[in-house]
Amino acid sequence: MRKNKLKKKILFSAIQPTGFVTLANYLGVLKHWKYIQKDYNCIFCVADLHSLTKHDNNFNLRKITLDTLAFYLACGVDPKKSIIFVQSNVDEHCKINWILNCFSYFGELSRMTQFKEKSRNNRNINMGLLNYPILMMSDILLYNSNYVFIGDDQKQHLELTKVVANRFNKYYGKTFTIPKNIMFKQGSRIMSLHDPKIKMSKSDKNNKNSIFLLDKKIEIYKKIKFATTDSESPSKILYDIIKKPGISNLLNIFSILSGKTILQLEKLFYNYNYSMFKEELSKLICKKLYNLQKRYFYFRKNENYLLKISRIGAKVASTKAKNMMNIIEKKIFL
Ligand code: TRP
Repeated sequence: MRKNKLKKKILFSAIQPTGFVTLANYLGVLKHWKYIQKDYNCIFCVADLHSLTKHDNNFNLRKITLDTLAFYLACGVDPKKSIIFVQSNVDEHCKINWILNCFSYFGELSRMTQFKEKSRNNRNINMGLLNYPILMMSDILLYNSNYVFIGDDQKQHLELTKVVANRFNKYYGKTFTIPKNIMFKQGSRIMSLHDPKIKMSKSDKNNKNSIFLLDKKIEIYKKIKFATTDSESPSKILYDIIKKPGISNLLNIFSILSGKTILQLEKLFYNYNYSMFKEELSKLICKKLYNLQKRYFYFRKNENYLLKISRIGAKVASTKAKNMMNIIEKKIFL
C-alpha cells in the first residue's frame, strides 16, 4: 500500500479564485479531480496570488478563496488523499518566482495569447499580468510535478514552463522535473452561451454568457433559453462546429453531463426543435448541479473547517516547497 503511494506520480492543478466557478471550469477541470486522486499524488492549489492581477472593487479575495476551497471539497477532492492549499500561504511561490523571472524573456511573455487578450482594451496592465505564466511555472516546478492538469487556454503557459525549466536545467544541471500535460479532451472547450466563438469564462463581464455552479434553476432555464442558436434552417439538433457553433456547444455540454455520445444525442433529438432541446438540457443541468450545490453549501457554511483544511495543506506543501527551494538555492547562491 505504502509502496504503491511512493510510486505514484505527482500531479498539480489549480484554479485562480475570481468570481464564481462556471460550468466550463467544472466540466473541463474540477469534475475530473475526484477520479484522478486515485492514480496520482495530487496537489490542488487555490491560486489566489494569480487573482491579484485583476483589480475589481467588488472583489473580496478572502471570501472568494473560501468559496473556491468549498468547491474543491464539493467536487470530491479529499484532503485525506490529496494536498489542498492556498497559494499565498506558501512563501516559496514568490521566492522561486524571482529566480524564474530571470530565466524568462520579455519577448516570450509578451507573446502569450492570454496576456495579449487581457491587456487589450485594459488600462490595468500591471506587471502581474505579464508575469502570470511565471507564477504558474513557480507553482508547477516547486513541487516536482510530473503532470499538470489544465484547461485548454492554459496550454501555452505549460509549454513555456517546459522551455524555462529546460533552460534552467542547462545552466545548473538537472534541477526541475519537466512536466507533462494532462487534459481531458471532452469538456475542455465549453463556449460562451452568447458567443460560441469565445470560451465560457468566469471573468466574462456579461454573466448571461456563463452558467455558474451556484445558479438557481430559474436562471439556468433562462440562460439556456436565450443561448445563441444558429439560424441554419431547418432548426435541427445537429453537431456542426462551423455552421452551427451554438447548438454544437449545447450538444457538447449535454453529451458530457449525460455520458451519451453526440451521435446518440443527434438521434435522440432528431424530432426536437431548438426550444424543446433547450428544455431538456436545462433539466439535465439543474439535476446535476443540485447535488453539487448541496455539498458546496454544506462545506461553505463551516468556515472553520475550510480554514483548518487549508492550514494543514499549507503545512505539507510548505515542507515540500522548502526542500525544493533549498536544492535550487544551493546551486545558485552562497
Ligand atoms: N491559471 C490557472 C487558471 O486560469 C490557475 C493556475 C495557477 C494553474 N497556477 C497553476 C493551473 C499551475 C495549473 C498549474 O485558473
